[in-house]
Order: sequence, then C-alpha cells, then structure tokens
Amino acid sequence: MAAKPMMMPKTTFVPPVIGHRGACGHAPENTLVSFRRAAALGVRWVEFDVRLSRDREVVVLHDEGLERTTNGGGLVAEKDWAELQALDAGAWYDEEFSGARIPSLGQAISVLAELGLGANVEIKPGPGQSDETGRITAARLRAEWPATLPPPVISSFDSESLKAARNTAPDIPRALVVSKIPTDWRNRLAALGCTALHCNHKHLSPGQAGEVLDAGFALRCFTVNRAARAATLFGWGVETVITDYPERMPA
Ligand code: G3P
Ligand code: MG
Repeated sequence: MAAKPMMMPKTTFVPPVIGHRGACGHAPENTLVSFRRAAALGVRWVEFDVRLSRDREVVVLHDEGLERTTNGGGLVAEKDWAELQALDAGAWYDEEFSGARIPSLGQAISVLAELGLGANVEIKPGPGQSDETGRITAARLRAEWPATLPPPVISSFDSESLKAARNTAPDIPRALVVSKIPTDWRNRLAALGCTALHCNHKHLSPGQAGEVLDAGFALRCFTVNRAARAATLFGWGVETVITDYPERMPA
C-alpha cells in the first residue's frame, strides 16, 4: 500500500540555544552585526523579526515604528525600502555600532549563509498585512534559503500569517508564538500545521510543558537569560531557549 502523503511540514534540527534578534544583549537587535556577534558567541541559530515596507520589501525589524531602534520615525509600513536602508539602526544601542543598517531579508540570508547560521524567522505583520506578510516572507524563504543551511522555522503570534505561510511554502516548518499558552493551543497548532509552540517561559508550568510534548509538538521558550532557568526548562522537556545572552546558557 502506498504511503500517505505527509500532512505535517518537514521537521528541522533546532539547537538548544537560539540567539534572540541575533545576540541583542551584545549588539543592536536584528542587525547583521548582531548576527555576527551571535555566531562569534557560538550559537548555531538566530531568531529575528520581519515585516513589510511600503514597497513590499521584507525587512528585519521588531517594532511597527522606527523610533526605538533607528534614527528615523514613523511606521515601517509607510516607508519604502530605499528610505529604510538609509537609516542608522545601530547608534541608538551604542556609538560603536553607528552605521549599522536595517537588513532586508535577502541581506540577512546572505550573512546567515556566510556564517553557517540557521534561523527562526518571526513574522510581525503590520495592521491588515497578516496574509501578505506571511505569503511574501514564505515565498522569499522558499526561493532564497540556501541549501547549505538547515531549513528555517517560520514563527508568528499571528495565525493568519502562519496560514498564508503554510499555503505558500507548506514544507517550511512553522511554530505558533504565544505569550501565555492559550486553552485552545492544541487545535490552533493542528489547524495551522505547526510542529512547535514558542512561549514566554515566565508563564509556563511543567504540567503544560508535558501536555505539549505528549501531544507531539516541540516546545521552545523565549526570552531566557538565566542559566538556572534554562536548565529547569530543559528538565521539563523544552527543546530550545531563545536568549539575548547565548554565552550564559548551559553548554
Ligand atoms: O520569537 C520569540 C520572541 O522573539 C517573541 O517575542 O517580541 O521578542 O519578538 P518578541
Ligand atoms: Mg521575535
């Protein structure tokens, strides 16, 4: 009898430690220099956030607005890539990093390939852009992700973005991101074809961790910056911690 087609996305090896926004305890978040710092600290994967510019470039930036992490202002969704590219995304963190730019997804991928870093790409859609951000990001990853790297993990707090990513590139593994684990987590993960749940460790109990693992999903936690806490979470079966300080994590 012929094997049934796989209904779940392909799995990928995810290491126990992922650098948050690169290594944002050491360098300006979501910049190429932050990825380089993460690699220098020995991590094998980084997490970063992506959203769309007005002209539909996929850019690596956490916030909807530009004020906190650049010398610009206003909404990313209302700026073209040419304008975003001209901003300084490093000086706010420390003068040492002035001149760092907002990377495009393509630029990020090039540096990841150079460094041999895997990635968790977190989709942060602007208002009304859930479907489009998921679709465009997944299409870019499908087209541009280097065969030399392990498949990335697409994650999002936004179910619509994950649904769009699934429709566009079903083979790229997906994870639902939540702060507190909601009561309907099982149905949501199943409906979105996710292989993992990413949650804030502060709200996680060992019982919940056990339920997620028993249901066959991987569990990863953010943002874990203390070694003792990471050790506890690993003891509960958490696969991965996402951290601002990779060098603090248990070896
Ligand atoms: O992807 C894990 C974590 O990054 C989610 O929260 O706000 O840091 O993007 P945030
Ligand atoms: Mg994030």
